[in-house]
Amino acid sequence: MKRILVIGSCGQIGTELVLNLRDKYGTNNVYASDILENCPEKLYPGPYVKMDILEKEMVRSFIISEKISEVYLLAALLSAKAEERPEYAWKLNMDGLFTILDLAKEGYLRKIFWPSSIAVFGKTTPKFNTPQFTIMEPSTVYGISKQVGERWCEYYYAKYDVDVRSIRYPGLISYTSLPGGGTTDYAVDMFYQAKLGNDFTCFLSDDTALPMMYMDDAIRATLELMNAPKENIKIRSSYNLSGISFTPKDIFEEIQKYIPDFRITFMPDFRQKIADTWPSSIDDISARSDWGWKERYNLEMLVKKMLDNVDVSILSSVS
Ligand code: NAD
Ligand code: SER
Repeated sequence: MKRILVIGSCGQIGTELVLNLRDKYGTNNVYASDILENCPEKLYPGPYVKMDILEKEMVRSFIISEKISEVYLLAALLSAKAEERPEYAWKLNMDGLFTILDLAKEGYLRKIFWPSSIAVFGKTTPKFNTPQFTIMEPSTVYGISKQVGERWCEYYYAKYDVDVRSIRYPGLISYTSLPGGGTTDYAVDMFYQAKLGNDFTCFLSDDTALPMMYMDDAIRATLELMNAPKENIKIRSSYNLSGISFTPKDIFEEIQKYIPDFRITFMPDFRQKIADTWPSSIDDISARSDWGWKERYNLEMLVKKMLDNVDVSILSSVS
């Protein structure tokens, strides 16, 4: 019987991941946890524990006493927020990972999922069809923390046989909860402004192509990776994963097909510099051949699904 803990479960990925894991393994076998006092209503009913990943002893005793067998460690500061608080971002993104890797090394956990990001790449990386193994010189604190995290995951696997699995997620698009402060968040915000009937000011330039993915594909990839036989997982740093690649102009034009009056202005800010160092598209041949990955959503499907489901009332929960 799996006993699963999702840390950082109230965020953009966690909310959907918890719901999917509960469908698969049973509500009471999947604990949601986050630093927030209350979890989103969508996660009720189901076990929730308020826990700061940086409170190491509390995390350790919870995992040991509840006999948790798998952890999905999602708590992190994303690219844009991390640039505002570099020291804290480094601490949060690294210390939590060591707490969980050490618990697995000591035999308390059977499997770990820890996400990396396209932010591990940098401006010296080949920009198109970025290979799995290539030059990586990240220039953001977020990217550096993810690259170092990858190296430690690989080390713990090689040295201590810790079964840690990871994906370099592209920018994720979803409607169940709002994104938490990344450079790719513009694409999610665009849907809310379009549905509100507002004009949209985009913080990236019209031609900034980035790797992106619809959340259903990302969750499916995560579960497929975690359920693949151990011997198939040949990469223990993190897998490249490709979905769609599009620019702000591409997604705007697709939304405009449904909302012809929608207008956009481009006003790049500090996030443009971050995006300029990231790949435009990703080669994910290793994920395809090792564990059978294949994306389902293209840009047209993603836009339709978002426009059908985005609920602008969610914005009042953060204002
Ligand atoms: P998010 O910001 O939406 O959610 C992070 C959650 O972690 C939040 O609910 C937050 O309250 C919680 N958290 C923050 N500090 C905490 C602490 N000290 N202890 C416990 N919980 C804490 O982020 P997300 O988009 O869901 O991303 C989850 C993971 O996936 C991160 O590691 C991120 O780097 C990675 N990732 C996300 C994307 C994306 O596009 N969303 C892309 C690549 C990688
Ligand atoms: N979507 C994330 C960000 O923009 C990429 O890791 O920070």
